Amino acid sequence: MSYNLLKGKKGLIFGALNEQSIAWKVAQRAVEEGAQIVLTNTPVSIRMGTINQLAQQTGSIVIPADATSVPDLENLIEKSMEHFGGKFDFILHSIGMSPNVRKGRTYDDLDYDFLAKTLDISAISFHKVIQVARKKDALNNWGSIVALTYIAAQRTLYGYNDMADAKALLESIARSFGYIYGREKQVRINTVSQSPTPTTAGSGVMGLNDLMDFADRMSPLGNATAEDCANYVLTLFSDLTRKVTMQNLYNDGGFSNMGMSARAMKTYGKGMEYRDIKHDK
Ligand SMILES: NC(=O)c1ccc[n+]([C@@H]2O[C@H](COP(=O)([O-])OP(=O)(O)OC[C@H]3O[C@@H](n4cnc5c(N)ncnc54)[C@H](O)[C@@H]3O)[C@@H](O)[C@H]2O)c1
Repeated sequence: MSYNLLKGKKGLIFGALNEQSIAWKVAQRAVEEGAQIVLTNTPVSIRMGTINQLAQQTGSIVIPADATSVPDLENLIEKSMEHFGGKFDFILHSIGMSPNVRKGRTYDDLDYDFLAKTLDISAISFHKVIQVARKKDALNNWGSIVALTYIAAQRTLYGYNDMADAKALLESIARSFGYIYGREKQVRINTVSQSPTPTTAGSGVMGLNDLMDFADRMSPLGNATAEDCANYVLTLFSDLTRKVTMQNLYNDGGFSNMGMSARAMKTYGKGMEYRDIKHDK
């Protein structure tokens, strides 16, 4: 269903690799809501994934860029402005990768060159995107920038490894730059902290299925899907959330405020019998 929330708006979407990608769902929903978009990803991901299909479906173009490269980002922002015929309104940063996770290096045995790459790709790229957009004065006043994050920035979750540190930095960048861009151009910057989701990046996390099961049992509303995430992000791109900035916003079915649920307790076979708690989901 469309509410025309983004009618007349234009935006740049990083991170659609394939149909599972959260950015893919955001792109589809943004267009359904009336936006015009430009898609971007690394040249390798464009070749390995299916972003060109998404471009066809959504009537958009794909401009390659490695989000760790400032020259690539400068080219991307310039080309996007040319395509849109001027400034645009929103940016989604949906980028994450840890070479330590990929190569099976645990948190107590990190490779520091890999750590530098994790931080550059998953967090500092967010700073680079915002800095380049601001220097090129690419965004309209009251624009909106969103990055996707995970609760491992606040709580330790086994196996999330150095991505936890990257997410903590990412969320800090949203606050620090949110102040600067907000006071100058009323551009708001937020992070959305999403439930574990079955995507290519998600499946790199150790024991994703167990983590998803645990989070689902703990969350009164269940895990948020990629579609749920897209819907939430759209509200942040819309004019309905103009005074929301510098926030880390949970889209997680309530997980972040839970300690223990009946459904999780049942799994561990401790405490009450299930018959005593059957009314509590
Ligand atoms: N899947 C989950 O469980 C989950 C939960 C919370 C937050 N997130 C976050 O959501 C975001 C999107 O991930 P996803 O789950 O949709 O997985 P995904 O694998 O579909 O997307 C990750 C994207 O990052 C891109 N990328 C990697 N290196 C890049 C670079 N140097 N420059 C530009 N792009 C680069 C990849 O090409 C890919 O498109 C990430 O920030 C991730 O940490 C995911």
